[in-house]
Amino acid sequence: MTLLRNTSSDFGSPLSGREREYLGTRAPAGVAPFLALWGEVEKTPLIPLPEVAARLGLGTVALKNEAFRLGQGSFKALGGAYAVMVLFKRLLEKHLGREVRVTQLLSPTAREFASTVTVCCATDGNHGKSVAAGARLLGCRSVIFIHAGVTQARAKGLGADEVVRVDGNYDLSVSEAERVSAERGWLLVSDTSWEGYEEIPAIVGQGYTILAQEALEQLHDRQFPLPTHVFLQAGVGGFAASIAGYLRERLGREVTVVVVEPDRAACLHESARAGELTSVPSIEPTIMAMLECFTPSLIAWRTLKKVADGFMTIREGDAENAMRLLANRNVVAGESGAAGLAGLLVAGADTTMKAALGLGPTSHVLLINTETATDPASFKAIVGMDPALIERPDEVASSA
Ligand SMILES: Cc1ncc(COP(=O)(O)O)c(C=O)c1O
Repeated sequence: MTLLRNTSSDFGSPLSGREREYLGTRAPAGVAPFLALWGEVEKTPLIPLPEVAARLGLGTVALKNEAFRLGQGSFKALGGAYAVMVLFKRLLEKHLGREVRVTQLLSPTAREFASTVTVCCATDGNHGKSVAAGARLLGCRSVIFIHAGVTQARAKGLGADEVVRVDGNYDLSVSEAERVSAERGWLLVSDTSWEGYEEIPAIVGQGYTILAQEALEQLHDRQFPLPTHVFLQAGVGGFAASIAGYLRERLGREVTVVVVEPDRAACLHESARAGELTSVPSIEPTIMAMLECFTPSLIAWRTLKKVADGFMTIREGDAENAMRLLANRNVVAGESGAAGLAGLLVAGADTTMKAALGLGPTSHVLLINTETATDPASFKAIVGMDPALIERPDEVASSA
């Protein structure tokens, strides 16, 4: 477990115009009309964790629970599906030679055109599920690339028309999706970015800002103080960059941003150490499978260099401890979902880290459980309870 302070010369620089467009205060409003095609976008619950605050000597701790977002099991529902709709709208407008309203994306004309469009992406699981859901809604075909480590259960749950398993790790599945989509003229909707492929992942990231906006509204409604700290788990960093970028725009430098990664796949941590975007080798798999990425997203790294105060790593057991704690609060979190809380528990129990991050009685921490547990057997092995038997009184109580 290590914490690196952000020493980049870009740290503290304002977001660029482009970043503001996708992560700024007006970003969530652009997302909502598209997601409305999918159904009612209900706020996910914000759950206070007073026992964590008391244990660590903090002011307040609140957890936004994305476990049931749009019936998809994770916050990723907000990004991939949204990007598919935005990009499909552009394609349709080009095809028809005229402007199309969002509400017309499900019209018979749109559907007819959709049947000629194939969307694709690589995924650890959740992003692909979201892209496939967006494609299904519109009537496009979806092809999702997964790597060797993706479980059979996750592969089945993708809901894609075709799933292609790539022999290799996540990074390899990303290059394979890029190669095949270019060859076949498919629409690649990646949540990670690289030189020359930047706009689409930015649109994906814009989708996530909805949850940060909701969290601030819910804190306000409950008369909770605004967050002074946020611990954000990262794979390629898209999620952390979106939430941190949006919060920075809304709250300024008042909020301390900590990026949390498994020590077995800490590509952003390594990039922060090196002072430039850096890949890490894949040596051992992590139970935080959704965070198992070895190369940061280019646009996420650029944003995080400006807005992240620190980059920390956690161990496997830290995620397990956080899952157990949440299960006691009737929150079913997957290993990756609980990683933000795991980061807080580690930092809050370490006097040096605590001091470095300025955590104390006047701190108000925001966390996000980014997904529910997708593998009941592994959840039971870690937590000692069947996830299906965990009731959700907190959901009912706090979603009002
Ligand atoms: C549940 C969950 N949490 C966190 C992340 C991290 O998001 P990112 O890869 O954008 O850093 C992912 C990515 O798939 C995820 O599925």
